[in-house]
Amino acid sequence: MSYAVTLPERGLLNAWRDAARIAISHRIAPDQIDWKTAADADADADNSPTAGGLFATEALPSAPGPHQAQVPQAFIRLAGSVIWHSAPARLAALYQALWRLDLRQGEPLSQADPLGRRLNLMAKAVGRDIHKMHAFVRFREIPAGPDTAGRHRFAAWFEPEHNTLEPGSPFFAKRFADMDWMIATPRLTAQFIAGSLSFQPGGARPNLPGPDLSEDASESLWATYFANIFNPARVKLDAMRSEMPKKYWKNLPETRLIPDMLKDAESRVARMHAAAASTPRPGSAPVSTRYRATMPVAADLPDTLEAAQKAAQQCRRCGLCEAATQTVWGEGATDARLMLVGEQPGDQEDLEGRPFTGPAGQLLRSLMAEAGIAPSSVWLTNAVKHFKFVPRGKERLHQNPNRQEIGDCRWWLGLELAFIRPKLVVALGASAAFALTGKAAALEDRRGRIETGLHGGPVLITWHPAAILRQPDKAAAMDLRAALSTDLSLALSACADPSRPGNPQEY
Ligand code: URA
Repeated sequence: MSYAVTLPERGLLNAWRDAARIAISHRIAPDQIDWKTAADADADADNSPTAGGLFATEALPSAPGPHQAQVPQAFIRLAGSVIWHSAPARLAALYQALWRLDLRQGEPLSQADPLGRRLNLMAKAVGRDIHKMHAFVRFREIPAGPDTAGRHRFAAWFEPEHNTLEPGSPFFAKRFADMDWMIATPRLTAQFIAGSLSFQPGGARPNLPGPDLSEDASESLWATYFANIFNPARVKLDAMRSEMPKKYWKNLPETRLIPDMLKDAESRVARMHAAAASTPRPGSAPVSTRYRATMPVAADLPDTLEAAQKAAQQCRRCGLCEAATQTVWGEGATDARLMLVGEQPGDQEDLEGRPFTGPAGQLLRSLMAEAGIAPSSVWLTNAVKHFKFVPRGKERLHQNPNRQEIGDCRWWLGLELAFIRPKLVVALGASAAFALTGKAAALEDRRGRIETGLHGGPVLITWHPAAILRQPDKAAAMDLRAALSTDLSLALSACADPSRPGNPQEY
């Protein structure tokens, strides 16, 4: 007798466990069962319309049989990971292990056993995939709807390698418990609305521009897209499958809820198209190429901050590595709630290999001390990790990094943000503000304000300490100093840990 078991995409772990319990209780051997998920079954139907007709198959019995299998906790733990792997064979492999455990045939969970090795590799891949999801999902804030009762809404698109949205979502539910959010993936969409987590079918990635960091328009389009599909009252599957963004946002009824935003998005797109029609600057790359060059690709992503630091030592993303002495990585607390980002290492930092040790760094450190911020309690880093300079005699004169260099180095800054997950980031000066927000507007109008960074978190914009040192007018320099000092105090109070009052050293 052959059995066909088709399991649902959602709640897969419980469904597999129930089916496996029934099967083993009837002592149905592994080679008698054809395990599938609903998605595998759909693919089979597409690929071979006659599949299933060759062998007569039955559904599993609905009631348990007489045999009671005992399984070790280790198997339950392993199955709880392996089940989310994308390989269709995982379901049969798990049942094979269960069968052998029940019959006490060898050690099917051990690394020394080919089946155990295979299962452990799958579990490891799933663990890595979940970790990457936690580190690299980037939420965008989207407008609150009429039914969101003032809660902020955030949405993200993510493409995991395995089916890890379901096991990966409770992390976000805990971390972002006080907001509504949605994570859309090709197979599944997670929605967290008013404290309740649910899953809907996924869909194709919309054909929207990548979140190129210098293009406000793409942010706006993504926000519009999410605002449409993130509708607690109605999941827009058609919208998820839409290929043509313009066609899609013109035709959807919900877009009427956000007409201003839509109008803005349209005019931005028009501006973008107009810009694209002109001859590109020599050496400039199209938006999509630039996007791909600077955004982490899942397969290349370092798994830890230390691995990222090690990889950064070999960085050849732009030409600055040619002349600089070394990559200057960030330093401080790897779980810091506050991160301070400068422009780039200076002459002294380049030689020492540490950020903020030269004159501007010393000024910053004394202002931090005045504000009660211990350098060891924060993460101190730079937008660009190599010193850019022109040689003048024996000296090396600082030069501002250009947008391309800042964009190239954003890869590393993004990894620091992803692993440290600060509550607040302070952008010191225009280069840091551009690196973090993608906006190049003048600092005068932005200083002291909190903007949303490209990583989705808050960024406080302030002066770079070097601006104080460069200012020839004493009174103006004092004003800048006072402003930077105020902003550092604001940053400290904005991200202080209420559970540790009065101890800024350890916030
Ligand atoms: N200026 C910066 O922005 N960073 C440093 O590390 C030193 C000076």
